[in-house]
Amino acid sequence: MNIIGNLVTLRAIEKEDMLVMQMWGNNPDIQYMLGGWHFPTNLNDQDKWFANLSCNSLNQRFLVLDKNGEKVGMANLLNINFKDGNAELGLLLDPSFQGKGLGKDVVETLVRYSFNELRLNRLETSIIAYNKPSLSLFLNKCNWKQEGVLRNWYFRKGKFVDKILLSVLSNEVEL
Ligand SMILES: CC(C)(COP(=O)(O)OP(=O)(O)OC[C@H]1O[C@@H](n2cnc3c(N)ncnc32)[C@H](O)[C@@H]1OP(=O)(O)O)[C@@H](O)C(=O)NCCC(=O)NCCS
Repeated sequence: MNIIGNLVTLRAIEKEDMLVMQMWGNNPDIQYMLGGWHFPTNLNDQDKWFANLSCNSLNQRFLVLDKNGEKVGMANLLNINFKDGNAELGLLLDPSFQGKGLGKDVVETLVRYSFNELRLNRLETSIIAYNKPSLSLFLNKCNWKQEGVLRNWYFRKGKFVDKILLSVLSNEVEL
């Protein structure tokens, strides 16, 4: 079932999305802001990644569409723990669709889905210390709280950088 927000729709990832996902995966500006470790990936390997991706209720990955049906980014809920009621949230937007409030809507939509549909109680995310837009989005716009700092966790452009841990609880947001 697709997940409908005010500005975005989150749907399952399809094979036809591999080209744009490969482009996002190879975009240095996007990847510099993300925690994962990416290296240049060709379409063949991107297709293999998709072939190994199974519909899995504990790791849910979404393609993000705007109101015009444009592919604007990706989001996910990973390591969903139904016993304890928590999960990790992640997202990225294509640079041409950043700064339009879509990121806020993706986070709010996934928060609603997690707490109102999956019956989770807690979401968390981690952010590279220099990713000011993301910190501002979660802390200032979406009411998440900073929980801690893992010092010198990342190595980027020859420097060690802190990892900031954030979370939100179901009783801290209006659903
Ligand atoms: C982070 C991201 C999801 C934000 O979504 P968005 O729709 O672009 O959100 P906005 O552009 O409205 O920005 C959110 C906030 O960051 C602020 N911001 C934007 N650029 C900024 C910058 N260079 N420095 C400081 N703050 C900045 C905005 O002012 C806004 O905060 P405010 O309204 O409280 O002032 C999106 O930029 C993105 O996908 N970036 C690349 C991948 C990424 O960082 N993913 C998150 C990993 S944790």
